[in-house]
Amino acid sequence: MHHDPERPGSIHPLLAARFSPSAFDPSAAVDDHALGLLLEAARWAPSAGNSQPWGFFTSRPGEPEHRRVVPHLAPSSARWATGAGLLVVTLTRRHVDDTPLLFSEFADYDLGQAVAHLTLQAQAMGLAARQFRAFDLDGLTRELRPGPGWAIVSMVAVGKAAGEPAGHRTRRSVFDLRSAPWSPPE
Ligand SMILES: Cc1cc2nc3c(=O)[nH]c(=O)nc-3n(C[C@H](O)[C@H](O)[C@H](O)COP(=O)(O)O)c2cc1C
Repeated sequence: MHHDPERPGSIHPLLAARFSPSAFDPSAAVDDHALGLLLEAARWAPSAGNSQPWGFFTSRPGEPEHRRVVPHLAPSSARWATGAGLLVVTLTRRHVDDTPLLFSEFADYDLGQAVAHLTLQAQAMGLAARQFRAFDLDGLTRELRPGPGWAIVSMVAVGKAAGEPAGHRTRRSVFDLRSAPWSPPE
């Protein structure tokens, strides 16, 4: 079901227009100012106990960081991610240092929320983001060697979208969201 922006009660235009591009304009750079705003948006996301359990390894074409990341893309994501003006590796702090103790039970949840902030900030700036998991997690972890307790979760390609949203974007209905996974009272 497509969102219909004409319907009463439409969601905010930023949300309605957002989509994950499958192609980026390789000539559109993400400059320092834009990168700063994207991270600033992520920085102001809420988190459990204000724990802020996120980290972002940023890399742009031509930077040495980009050369550390690109070899670990899967063939499927390399097709479009290499055209993006910015590739972000997202990390979360799951554990307290090298112990099995959870740093925060909401670490991944909070990271996702920070990335949602970044994604909408990108949209507000005329950019677009595609989050993805299609990369070699073990290889990238060996390359970036996150500190104790930290783990790589996902990547985000940000840039100027080339092309339109895919025609087959669907969503579960609101009814389904409100009726799916719980049981009636006993
Ligand atoms: C955590 C996460 C992982 C994803 N992994 C991939 C991926 O590996 N490859 C890909 O092409 N898209 C990936 N996506 C993009 C989703 O397929 C996309 O968000 C979804 O189909 C909904 O489309 P939309 O963002 O245009 O609304 C991922 C998205 C998220 C949030």
